[in-house]
Amino acid sequence: MPPEDDGAREGGPRINPSILAADFVNMQRDLARIATADFVHVDVMDNHFVPNLTFGPQMVERIQATSPIPLDVHLMITEPERWAPAYAELGAASVTFHLEAAAEPVTLARRLREIGARAGVAVKPATPVESLFDVLDEFDQILVMTVEPGFGGQSFMPETMPKLALLADEARRRGSAVWLQVDGGIGEATIAQAAEAGADTFVAGSAVFGAADPDAAIAGLRASADQHRHTH
Ligand code: DX5
Ligand code: ZN
Repeated sequence: MPPEDDGAREGGPRINPSILAADFVNMQRDLARIATADFVHVDVMDNHFVPNLTFGPQMVERIQATSPIPLDVHLMITEPERWAPAYAELGAASVTFHLEAAAEPVTLARRLREIGARAGVAVKPATPVESLFDVLDEFDQILVMTVEPGFGGQSFMPETMPKLALLADEARRRGSAVWLQVDGGIGEATIAQAAEAGADTFVAGSAVFGAADPDAAIAGLRASADQHRHTH
């Protein structure tokens, strides 16, 4: 659930720091350094869907128990049907699985909502989004990856922006309330173009945790995104 006291951010921009860039053995300390974040972005990788491995439900359950900020879980895993519901059940505010990995994305999204999480679907940079147009309202958020998933600290891919703009136009045309999220290489140099293309929710790992003052970095990113808010 987004913080109750920030009606001003109802339509975004939301800044979700990715703890992939945090210190895994000082998680509680690092969570305290991002007190102003909207959500904590949690990257779950299985070394199958992506060539990297992070953590699973047991670790995320502890983060959930410790974090004062709601969790935004990003599953970079195969067989999301098998694992995604567990993250919703442990209390994650949102659970996002990859379109490329899901056999029945709508069925899975419905299951996640039933449990009480926001349902998200993610697409890799080369994956088209047209198949989502007719089912936009089955999802609470769509994540357009702005790097190939798997690692933090990569360069933003501007070629993903037309796809994001297409989604934003379609969402507006259909009066959809779906949130549009970007993830990968988001920082002061790139957030403006993602905001202009229609993103309202921004994941940032290295740009936040690599900063001397992560909360100040969050404020800076939020201000830039707000200033470049998508207008029609
Ligand atoms: C990449 C992850 C991202 C990653 C972003 O596969 O999904 O969430 O942590 O890191 P930065 O912001 O450093 O690109
Ligand atoms: Zn992510």
